Amino acid sequence: MVDPSLDREYAANLRVNKCKTPDDKTTKVEMDPGSRNTFDLSYYSLLVKRKGLFESDAALIADFVTSSLIHQLPNGSVEDFFAEFANSMEKMIRINVKTVTTGEIRRHCTVGCDASVLLNSSSSSGEKPEKEAAPNLTIRGFDFIDRVKSLLEAECPGVVSCADILALVSRDSIVATGGPFWKVPTGRRDGVTSRLSDAMANIPPFFANFTTLQTQFANQGLDLKDLVLLSGAHTIGIAHCSSFSDRLYNFSGTGLPDPSLDSEYVANLKENKCKSPDDNTTKVEMDPGSRNTFDLSYYSLLVKRRGLFESDAALITDSVLCLSSTSFSEVQLRISLLNLPTPWRK
Ligand code: HEM
Repeated sequence: MVDPSLDREYAANLRVNKCKTPDDKTTKVEMDPGSRNTFDLSYYSLLVKRKGLFESDAALIADFVTSSLIHQLPNGSVEDFFAEFANSMEKMIRINVKTVTTGEIRRHCTVGCDASVLLNSSSSSGEKPEKEAAPNLTIRGFDFIDRVKSLLEAECPGVVSCADILALVSRDSIVATGGPFWKVPTGRRDGVTSRLSDAMANIPPFFANFTTLQTQFANQGLDLKDLVLLSGAHTIGIAHCSSFSDRLYNFSGTGLPDPSLDSEYVANLKENKCKSPDDNTTKVEMDPGSRNTFDLSYYSLLVKRRGLFESDAALITDSVLCLSSTSFSEVQLRISLLNLPTPWRK
């Protein structure tokens, strides 16, 4: 028997001229005969005439809501249809990011961006989690993320992932301290595994030299311009003495300070902040006097050889980045040539 929801004449025509046997697997048939290469509304006219080829097409006509839309579409304007179609395409792309495990965000994401840095070790997990990797041991603010998550769970349970919360909170922290705003695509999924070795392999340590920084950033698809710009985040926040005390007391086993760190700054830090080489509790502003303001002063410090970490110093020793040049204004000029976003060009 022929499907009664398919137009009888059309079915007969197909049987005679196209699909001549039930097991024909090779013959191809236009879904929109006569206009298969034109993006137009004729598909809907066919549906109304019960000439949609698939059961899924027929299902659209069987439902009251979709059927009403289908009957209206062929009488409307092509422009309106195009605009609506484009909207729905955009929506579908967003859904794709949300539902497919290899969606865009996950594909370009290596460590921590699935919120795996929030996971604690469990009795069943063999390896320690990212959270316990050396570069992550000083991360603060887990309690804040937990609070945001529980507020959201109370409002709309199971909808907003911790990974999206991390991305949005990071953006909003920068906005709140006077930095730029950018659109954060959402739809991240929370990871369920977290491996210390991933963090160790991908997160640059404070003693990273230029080559390591360049390589590890490149592994994430980030170039030297990104390296300079993103390091600018050290304009806010604090560091523990342990992240740079070897530069003050025993650089590369010499028993002396790092010669690339401004000697006055070294003396000041030793006298007032990191008073002993093994102090691992005292916190120091990375951008003294302006640690809560997202501005350009980090670069000004770099030029004065006052970046706290070896990784900061590495930026001014590289000849490509050329930040070792004379004045801050020159750095500003160079940064503007790097096409920094307007809010930064103060
Ligand atoms: C270029 C490689 C980087 C290295 C080697 C590095 C290293 C560090 C270190 C050692 C600390 C201090 C940790 C402590 O002692 O408590 C720190 C703090 C910080 N870093 Fe980075 N970082 C890098 C890139 C970035 C990037 C790309 C961002 C963001 C875009 C960033 C944002 C921050 C912030 C906000 C703090 C302050 C944290 C706080 O106040 O608790 N860093 N970083």
